[in-house]
Amino acid sequence: MLPTPTNVRSRYTKQYKEKGMANLERAIHDSALKFKNLPTRAKFLFGSSLVVSVLFYGFIIRSFFKNDLMDEHFLETDKCPACYGMSACGQFFYDRVKFTGWSKLRFLDRVNIKNVHFADHQALNSVVIKKLSHDSEIQAIDDKICSDGNRPAGCDIARVIYITNTAQTLKKGPIQPETLKGEASMFTCGSYRLLDRLWHYYKERLKKKEIFFRDKIQLWYISMVNTEPLMLQTFPASEGWPFPEYYGACGRFMMVEDTGRPLGDFYHASFEKRADIAYQIMKIADKMTNNEEQFALYWTDLTYENLSVDAAGKVKVIDLENIIVVDLMAIAATKPKGWDEFLESPFDECGGKNCLGFSTAKLCSHVNSDHNYYAACRNILSQYANEDGKPGGLLHDMPDHARDYWDLEHLLNECARPQTVHGRIKVKDKLISAFENLMSDPNVDVNVLDEAMEDKHENRFFKKAGKDEE
Ligand SMILES: Nc1ncnc2c1ncn2[C@@H]1O[C@H](COP(=O)(O)OP(=O)(O)O)[C@@H](O)[C@H]1O
Ligand SMILES: [Mg+2]
Repeated sequence: MLPTPTNVRSRYTKQYKEKGMANLERAIHDSALKFKNLPTRAKFLFGSSLVVSVLFYGFIIRSFFKNDLMDEHFLETDKCPACYGMSACGQFFYDRVKFTGWSKLRFLDRVNIKNVHFADHQALNSVVIKKLSHDSEIQAIDDKICSDGNRPAGCDIARVIYITNTAQTLKKGPIQPETLKGEASMFTCGSYRLLDRLWHYYKERLKKKEIFFRDKIQLWYISMVNTEPLMLQTFPASEGWPFPEYYGACGRFMMVEDTGRPLGDFYHASFEKRADIAYQIMKIADKMTNNEEQFALYWTDLTYENLSVDAAGKVKVIDLENIIVVDLMAIAATKPKGWDEFLESPFDECGGKNCLGFSTAKLCSHVNSDHNYYAACRNILSQYANEDGKPGGLLHDMPDHARDYWDLEHLLNECARPQTVHGRIKVKDKLISAFENLMSDPNVDVNVLDEAMEDKHENRFFKKAGKDEE
């Protein structure tokens, strides 16, 4: 027989509750007494660790509930036109883009000095949100604008930028390439055709067919911080340029395609994989040097960090800040001294480390140059490439058939440090063809290659013998 309800002892009786409360009070009282009796140093330690944990967990909890990309203060939209544009604001404000992983945690922004964040876009999947410069560099530019407008540092940048000396010249007429010039960047060589092309593709202007004063101010501001968004728009991925797709900007952030992992992650990949990557890097160098648009785009900062490889194995250039654009048509029209002489980049030893020397004056005044092949071989592909912890270059530990049959080591050395006149440009196609064969050769039949090697040597021997006979 089941017990009657009156026989069941309830945990919620008044008597039980009172007893519980008394226990709790006693425990609190005891803890307070214990805390009081602690030495001052221990009290301080306890107090500060409590504050740190509250802040830490507070930040973590906050990051799950708040989307900073909907916050205009975070995006700094109030600073426009001293910003990168507004085209992506709609997507941010409608909660379509959300930070992922570590990028959610704002307190890590202090260590993320490059200001590169990862996010998920409802329709585009993984995207990268970039602030394009370190906070201190952005601050220095703001201060410069304030002083150009005769205002103290920390001025209302959105208003003061209109009264700077540069703004006054921009008000009077069209923006000149000279105004956008940087040390080694998109407009270093200056070209009206390049500027026209930029205006044509530029997504951040107020109206498609007109250029307003505000547009010119914004373009000038972007060029001071980093020309990368301008490069991405002028040479769009959708037209086959090997760069991430530009998805827009909002305030002081731009959103681009996430093109995968940095090249450094592939330093220990299989040789075939590395040959595939090397093939693509040489093809990129080709495209950037010779293209229908008649603009040469020269690398001046080529590192493992500035190239990426996506899940499908496609290589892209991700850091476009220091690419110099040369208008080949303008040079052919103005014919500066020696313009059609072939420009060879001299090898630089740099104490066995990576480096990339270049002369902007020479690059800007020649139509033919081997600079991009030099950059690729010197800093990434050949044994001369030596970036922190990555000795021997990307093609380190090459298999015998690559060295002996495809002559890879010699070709790479010649590309980085040519021993003959025009040696680099002469070997670049041989290199591309060697990579093409090596990447699609995962189960190479060494016997077949050995036979081919013998044939090759015999041919050489007969040729030589024939010559001698003659
Ligand atoms: N579009 C992108 N896709 C994937 N990773 C990226 C992308 N842009 C930047 N990154 C990552 O952020 C790092 C820093 O970006 P980068 O533009 O090179 O900044 P910095 O100019 O400060 O070197 C890169 O090395 C890469 O790891
Ligand atoms: Mg970089």
